[in-house]
Amino acid sequence: MKMMKKVLAAVLALTLVFAFAGCGKKETTESSSTEAAQKSTIIFGTNAEFAPFEYVSANGVIGQYDGIDMCIAKEIAAANNAEAKIENMEFDSLLVALKNKQIDAVIAGMTVTNERKQEVNFSTPYYTATQVMIVKEDSTIAKASDMKDKKICVIQGYTGETCVKKLGYKYESFKKGTEAVMELVNGKCDVVVIDSATAEKYVKDNKGLKIVKDAGAFGAEEYAIAVNKDNTELLNKINSAIKTMIENGKVSEFAAKYAEAVAE
Ligand code: ARG
Repeated sequence: MKMMKKVLAAVLALTLVFAFAGCGKKETTESSSTEAAQKSTIIFGTNAEFAPFEYVSANGVIGQYDGIDMCIAKEIAAANNAEAKIENMEFDSLLVALKNKQIDAVIAGMTVTNERKQEVNFSTPYYTATQVMIVKEDSTIAKASDMKDKKICVIQGYTGETCVKKLGYKYESFKKGTEAVMELVNGKCDVVVIDSATAEKYVKDNKGLKIVKDAGAFGAEEYAIAVNKDNTELLNKINSAIKTMIENGKVSEFAAKYAEAVAE
């Protein structure tokens, strides 16, 4: 009896295998099953240390990854009937990974710069930011030139580092924004230069800090998605999805949503 059951089970299993093989064969003509089976993946590289754009959270929008950029990535994938996958790595490694084709695109609150444009292509920008200074509430720093002779912290590879370098001031660089802000909180440095929206998040999370702006010293920066220079097909897809999201207000919606999350 037991034997009989086993045989039956085996026959059933085989039937199932053939049934599925049959489905597989028909895929070229039947689109519904084809789509499910052939759904492509867009691998986005990011550095999830940059709230409100990308950070790790218990239930993110793409796996454990949450933030404005993650919503945008998800929409881009959906618009192309693809699935968005995230590769989290150091900020400094992103463009290298893109050039080596380990990832398809970089979405990381990345500012378009001429240096980077030599290496990769950028999409239509989706967000405008600027560098700001985070200082202690009682700090006398009121403009960029007040940073001279002060202990300045920046994050390695961020445009904030480039800005301070251009001003000609000495600085110390850290791997993560959180580390630089901890130095400031602990009184080991006087100012952190970092992107505006991220700075706001840090000021909300840590008591006793404030933001100082200097539009004369720090210009507008535009965030865009980077793509390998070979991959204009993906660039076009990304651009058309961004265009739609700007026009239908989705980008502003995401930005507002995460600014609120920051305010909590
Ligand atoms: N906007 C700055 C830059 O492009 C900082 C970006 C940092 N992004 C991140 N995901 N850690 O250099």
